[in-house]
Amino acid sequence: MREKKQEKGSPIWHGRFSQSPAAATQQFVESLSFDRRMYKHDIAGSIAHARMLEAVGLISKAELEEITSGLEDIAMEMDEGKFEFDPAYEDIHMAIETTLIKRIGEAGKKLHTARSRNDQVALDLRLYLRDAIDLSLIPAIDKLQKTFVNLAEREGQAVMPGYTHLQHAQPILAGAVILAYVEQLERDRERLLDCRKRINVMPLGSAAIAGTTLPIQRNYPALEMGFSSISRNSIDGVSDRDFAAEFVFDMAMTAMHLSRWAEDWVMWSSSEFDFIDLDQRYCTGSSIMPQKKNPDILELVRGKTGRVYGDLMNLLTILKGLPSGYNRDLQEDKIAVFNAYDVVLMSLRVSAEVVETTKFKADKMLAGTKEGFLEATGLAEYLVKKGMPFRQAHNVVGRIVAHSEKEGKKLSELGIDELGGFAENIEKDVYQVLSAEKLVEAYQSYGSAGVRSVKEQMKYWREVVEERS
Ligand code: ARG
Repeated sequence: MREKKQEKGSPIWHGRFSQSPAAATQQFVESLSFDRRMYKHDIAGSIAHARMLEAVGLISKAELEEITSGLEDIAMEMDEGKFEFDPAYEDIHMAIETTLIKRIGEAGKKLHTARSRNDQVALDLRLYLRDAIDLSLIPAIDKLQKTFVNLAEREGQAVMPGYTHLQHAQPILAGAVILAYVEQLERDRERLLDCRKRINVMPLGSAAIAGTTLPIQRNYPALEMGFSSISRNSIDGVSDRDFAAEFVFDMAMTAMHLSRWAEDWVMWSSSEFDFIDLDQRYCTGSSIMPQKKNPDILELVRGKTGRVYGDLMNLLTILKGLPSGYNRDLQEDKIAVFNAYDVVLMSLRVSAEVVETTKFKADKMLAGTKEGFLEATGLAEYLVKKGMPFRQAHNVVGRIVAHSEKEGKKLSELGIDELGGFAENIEKDVYQVLSAEKLVEAYQSYGSAGVRSVKEQMKYWREVVEERS
């Protein structure tokens, strides 16, 4: 059979073309610059595909061996940085296939049997994200959680003001706030593992849109690559990017959690709060103000969250107008997915180092509890225990607070006669609740921010993090 001779550097789809793509076309459509990071997954997918082709008799054993060892050589060169990623290849799929054909000839030309780049790229992205979750993100979340748990153990006994509306609310243990961060990360972890279920569906064999007339066995590569199922519908198989959008959403949520934590700690490191001391190795200075030690990492963890939100909007916008089937717009999915992944992974990793090295200032935290009538709610609950309806107790304590404010006194500085004037059931034992340290001992509801509950929560998390490490 006659074949048009392939000019050097012309794409593998050149058959129906009489001219090479314009330079502008090449530059504009290429994705090699960003999809080359999927080379391992592309090669693993090709090897699994080739094995299936051999198993169903579409290629010979000898051809399979040539293909496999050719692909393995290419992988090795890429690992070692020896492969030349020429943008003229267009994308990672063609870079690998073209090189394979150049090297092994006829057998290489059979690799793309019953396959399209449309199902190939969907497969690669799924393999890539599965690894991203298993090998990078979950371990990074585990590490950060464990670092927070260690911090809670080290510094969590400090009594500090709890804030609502950023105003002093009630006394809490520092450990309770720290473990709140761990809870957020736990949901991020669960969300990722749930997203993994939608990722772990194998699209290969959907081919371009319609499947194939060739007798392929789609379960074969699915099993080999550890997929839990294969896509049921070839059109959906090539055009579904729900898993990618979901992944980017999960990244956005994690970035948001890290950003809120960072905001807490930016404030806590200010002179106004002065609750924590960030290790100077994780701070930067000012080019003009010699005294500065700025929490730039925390600010950038917060700031980079914007990029991840942008990635989510980017991907959802790419998807919204697409007709059924594969469309080249989908190539842009990887820009959003990789950026969200890179930002969040980096943030998780650097955050663990910040958490590991930060010192809490328990004395400053305790001093903070002396302002703002933090014991007021405890005092109202004291009155409830003495038989007063809560709404009435709220009102009485409100008046006591107004009185204290006028007198310039703290609640604990009011005399028993002064207090007794507001409600006859206020007795000497009231001073038990007019102290932040005593109140954190007194919280008794499940999950509360006091000593007993934080101890239980610590026990729970310690077991979880040890089991995972
Ligand atoms: N580089 C493309 C992408 O990332 C690969 C699939 C291209 N398919 C096609 N028929 N042009 O989506």
